[in-house]
Amino acid sequence: MNNLILCGFMGSGKTAVGKALAAQYGMELIDTDSLIEKNENRTIAEIFANSGEPYFRGLETKLIKELATKKNLVISLGGGLAANRENHPYLKNLGKVILLDCGIEETLKRIEGDKTRPLTANGRQDIINRYNFRKPIYEEVADITVDSSADVQRTLNLIISLL
Ligand code: S3P
Repeated sequence: MNNLILCGFMGSGKTAVGKALAAQYGMELIDTDSLIEKNENRTIAEIFANSGEPYFRGLETKLIKELATKKNLVISLGGGLAANRENHPYLKNLGKVILLDCGIEETLKRIEGDKTRPLTANGRQDIINRYNFRKPIYEEVADITVDSSADVQRTLNLIISLL
């Protein structure tokens, strides 16, 4: 099967839905955040704090280029990966891009005050601005957009019905 790529903002459900989708179709799951943490042997928060965001963004682009020849994967992207237009051609070549969007109110419920994500540290208005800025950029690369505001099973069912 062609690769299925899940993109979207922090909290949109990429990791949880990715697991369910991979199980549903018997595909291998790759989570870019987890793979980067494994390769670097440190957390995303540590990478941001010690090497800076541009370094992390470079790792994301390198990783997505390296996956180019792989098949039968579900790939859950870190929230910034599809927000970077430089990555769009690689994502398009990799497979079908599915945008998960749970809306700003649900996003805030899920991630406001999260201590593990470096980009939630600047508070509510910063999250809202970032969400609004990124949404049209995600839409440019997405083949389909799925409402992920309900639970994982419902989001999975919606994806299956659209594929
Ligand atoms: C980021 C999202 C995070 C992680 C990093 C940066 C972003 O992934 O890659 O903290 O720029 O939106 P999740 O979307 O899985 O939280």
